[in-house]
Amino acid sequence: MDKLLIVGGHPLHGEIRISGSKNAALPILASTLLTETPMLIKNVPHLRDITTMVGLLGRMGVEVTVDDKLNVLVDTRTINSYSAPYDLVKTMRASVLVLGPLLTRFGQAEVSLPGGCAIGSRPVNLHIQGLRQMGADISVENGYIRARAERLQGTTLYLDLVTVTGTENLLMAAVLAEGATIIENAAKEPEVTDLAKCLSSMGAKIQGAGTDTIEIQGVERLLGAEYEVLPDRIEAGTYLVAAAMTGGYIKLKSADPHSLDAVLAKLREAGAHINTGDNWIELDMRGRSLRAVDIHTSPYPAFPTDMQAQFCALNAVAEGISTVTETVFENRFMHVQELHRLGANIRLEGNTAICTGVKQLYGAPVMATDLRASASLVLAALVAKGETLVDRIYHLDRGYECMEEKLTQLGGEVRRIP
Ligand code: EPZ
Repeated sequence: MDKLLIVGGHPLHGEIRISGSKNAALPILASTLLTETPMLIKNVPHLRDITTMVGLLGRMGVEVTVDDKLNVLVDTRTINSYSAPYDLVKTMRASVLVLGPLLTRFGQAEVSLPGGCAIGSRPVNLHIQGLRQMGADISVENGYIRARAERLQGTTLYLDLVTVTGTENLLMAAVLAEGATIIENAAKEPEVTDLAKCLSSMGAKIQGAGTDTIEIQGVERLLGAEYEVLPDRIEAGTYLVAAAMTGGYIKLKSADPHSLDAVLAKLREAGAHINTGDNWIELDMRGRSLRAVDIHTSPYPAFPTDMQAQFCALNAVAEGISTVTETVFENRFMHVQELHRLGANIRLEGNTAICTGVKQLYGAPVMATDLRASASLVLAALVAKGETLVDRIYHLDRGYECMEEKLTQLGGEVRRIP
């Protein structure tokens, strides 16, 4: 199991390129199942979760080739199975995103129930409820979702909770359904909007993506398209926090500042000087002191839950006392006990972490538990005195492309130990 060995104390300085968004690439790769003509997806990040999704499509008989520029060519004409087996789904819950496309295109799907994960039970009841309301016959037995439908019927769906992949699954189901579908209380994340833009380029008729209400007019068929995935806002936010914590300077190229308003506002409140352009973001923290900031996670456009762990690390070394409240997932503070090992002073009270900034963290062996928690441990290690060994970094590899190379490029002392 790979580990990262990090020696803290180096202010980060330099430029890096932000990769394509994992959470946009995953639904967009699933959307290729909606058409029998080939699709070319560009700017796909080279991540473990992407490899899993490509493997899942391959397992169905779909032809997937990756060219030297990491563009992914998908041809579903050879599909011979409509099943997503447990051994793949258990490694990546986002595999459930093939349910909507398979059902609306082929009238059948057999998808393993995604297990829970470290951050919560993460049920998919809203995905299933929505598809049933569209006329699907769905049974959930011995760990599998078995779905059948002659042709899904458009209808009005009201989502009890804002769910990102739930919205994405139902959006993909609706584009080939009979008649009009309205999704109320839809997720507004940029990744949902990116999926909608991709579907529209395939000929789907969608209005209102990025708002609470998405209206879809079902069509008979979609055509393959070329589509470039938007930049990963969480990767961008993570490196901005790294530069802020280490008192350095960073310029992110191929980044999208418009998808990070809440995060940029919090970084400015923490004392960072930030400039942005159409596709770049720069942050300067040299000679400035880091101030603790209160965080309250909520669905987009509010502060993203995927940046919560990173701001716990920032608050651990910032001046002052702050609160970090997690409202989206029920168990997303696994990083706190590991940060304690580095000397952080954070107290948990229900879904709120109370952080008291300390002058110095000290290196120690720590263990990653989930994707964004592992990122927060790396951030803390970059400022901790001495050596930190972060174990189980396969969690990191799921969502961050070449993190050790990017951090080394920025002057960090980071080495991968096999
Ligand atoms: C997506 O997960 C992201 N994953 C997550 O990113 C992200 O943290 C999350 O959205 C919230 O922004 C992908 O896009 C692949 P939800 P998702 O459905 O769709 C409850 C990362 O770090 N819920 O929006 O699974 C659920 O339990 C990952 O890259 C139901 O109760 O999250 C949670 O409490 C981690 N029933 C809340 O809604 C359902 O049917 C929001 O979950 C669906 C969701």
